[in-house]
Amino acid sequence: MYICHCRAVTDRRICEAIEAGACDSETVIRRCGAGGACGGCLPAVRELLAHYGLTDQARPTADSAAA
Ligand code: FES
Repeated sequence: MYICHCRAVTDRRICEAIEAGACDSETVIRRCGAGGACGGCLPAVRELLAHYGLTDQARPTADSAAA
């Protein structure tokens, strides 16, 4: 299922990034692009991080994600 429509990133790809060591949204953005455009999917990215017991420390805003 696509989580990030701007960058066409699926939940599976985000989970792979997290399982490979991405521990916050900034790292997820760098590794797979999800959240790096409009930022509208960042709440869903954070939900996936939480599923792995990770609390997002970076918490970029939509503005910083788009920069
Ligand atoms: S939907 Fe993911 S950055 Fe826009």
